[in-house]
Amino acid sequence: LAAGCARDAGGDAPVVGFSQVGAESEWRTANTRSVRSAIEEAGFRLRFSDAQQKQENQIKALRSFIAQRVDVIAFSPVVESGWETVLREAKAAGIPVILTDRSVDVSDESLYVTLIGSDFVEEGRKAARWLLEESPLRRGEDREGPVRIVELQGTVGSAPAIDRGKGFREVLGDDQDYRIVRTQSGDFTRARGKEVMEAFLKSEGGDNIDVLFAHNDDMAIGAIQAIEESGLRPGEDILVISIDAVRGAFEAMMAGKLNVTVECNPLLGPQLVDAIRAVQEGRELPRRIVVEESVFTREQAAEVFPSRQY
Ligand code: AHR
Repeated sequence: LAAGCARDAGGDAPVVGFSQVGAESEWRTANTRSVRSAIEEAGFRLRFSDAQQKQENQIKALRSFIAQRVDVIAFSPVVESGWETVLREAKAAGIPVILTDRSVDVSDESLYVTLIGSDFVEEGRKAARWLLEESPLRRGEDREGPVRIVELQGTVGSAPAIDRGKGFREVLGDDQDYRIVRTQSGDFTRARGKEVMEAFLKSEGGDNIDVLFAHNDDMAIGAIQAIEESGLRPGEDILVISIDAVRGAFEAMMAGKLNVTVECNPLLGPQLVDAIRAVQEGRELPRRIVVEESVFTREQAAEVFPSRQY
């Protein structure tokens, strides 16, 4: 089949129910585009549902897919816990479940076939390694007092928020020269990122922040506005580290306001299609399909920007 040429979704084409987290970030809209276009190109029939970042909406969507007896369910779980019951219902109905992007915390591994997505713990580690090894505040540089870090977490209870926080702390270890002085969720959105950063800046010690670690680019971009409005220079007075590597982050890096972004690839559509085919054909899949990713600094931004796909 020629690239870009969609097959007609015929009556015997598999029906895929996909429940998306929401449209909270640039990353998410790129992920939705990738899933929709890959499924369309494969000639599968798609039932798409947007959970608006609410687990209850997602559970309803999964139940409706089960009632419709779709062939495969794929979903990116808003949070990690609370899936056991609905996944058992899918299993009882004989509908295979593929996880994309985020993981679930279940005691019975047979409740899903595979998870296609990034290693979020490693992303958190990469963010901290840049700070400790490459940044202007790296280890071994002379300075007075510890490096004071504020953290904008992703959605509470979501796999990327839990794992990125874990990986970041793992690399900081018990080094007393680097301290996380404030941490709060900005729900992966620009608006919340800005609000929470404003609160950090106004809180006690808020005039003494060295580093912002944001769990995604959108929150970092919102926070950058808050930093500027407070009269400080993001990227200089406060180093800004984030995750995703979306176009907005490259623009912020080229403007000198974001120091580094750790890549998290949202273009999972083609791998999802491959997995659906494997499931349909009864082929074995690995439990975990991981995506290769890089780290980009503001020094590389202008060169890399034209080749970015999201
Ligand atoms: O689950 C992936 C995360 O969700 C992305 O880092 C973030 O931007 C999104 O909202």
